[in-house]
Parts: sequence; C-alpha cells; structure tokens
Amino acid sequence: MSFEWSEEYSVKNRVIDEHHKHLFELFDAFESAANDGRDMAFIKATLMDIKEYTFYHFSFEERMMEAAEYPEYLAHKKLHIAFIEELDKLMDNFEALNSEALGQKTYQLMTNWLLHHIETVDQKYKPYINL
Ligand code: FEO
Repeated sequence: MSFEWSEEYSVKNRVIDEHHKHLFELFDAFESAANDGRDMAFIKATLMDIKEYTFYHFSFEERMMEAAEYPEYLAHKKLHIAFIEELDKLMDNFEALNSEALGQKTYQLMTNWLLHHIETVDQKYKPYINL
C-alpha cells in the first residue's frame, strides 16, 4: 500500500492539511525504504524524520485547538502523547528488529493509529478551527 493523502482527510485548514500531506509523504518514504531493503541506518533516519515531524505537527495542532477552545483538546492531546510513546517504543526496539519486522510494525502503527487519527479524530475539531 502506498500512503497518499486525499481530500477525505482534509480538515479544511490549509496549514494542517499541508502538515498531514507531509506526514503521508514521510510514511510513503519509510515504506519504500523498508520494502526496498535499504540499510538499517537509512531506515532509522527515515523513522526519526517521521517522529520529529509528527512531534512538530502535534505541537502546532495542540496550540491551535487550545486557542480555539476546542472542548476535546485534552483528550486529543492524550492520544498524541500515546502515539509518540508508541513511536518511542518502536525506536527503542529498533536494533532488535530486522527490516521486514520493522516495516510490519511501523506499517501497523501508521495505518491503525495515525491514519485512523487523521481520518477520524482530527476531523472532530474541524468546526471549531474553521469558524
Ligand atoms: Fe493531525 Fe491530531 O494529529
């Protein structure tokens, strides 16, 4: 599967949509690197890029939700923290995994967690930030 952003993911906010599009590009780059059997240092660097950008995006989104007085802000923030913790766990176990196992685990995390998050959880703040 390739990760491609589409209009169904839009939260109707140009900046956030650009962030999400970039996350999709990073997921796609990671999956290609794992599938193509790139060396582990390259794959790890790609995973670090995902983590850093995700952290940047979450921080931005949280400031925006807080400023908009979004009532689900704290619950949403907790989900962000849980995702970063999952990514940290993956990074901690990185050395013990081969590229195939790593690819599978990351793929699961990205599809089950982050895509679901963008597709459903992020959609809920849409009416509050686009007044
Ligand atoms: Fe776009 Fe709540 O992450």
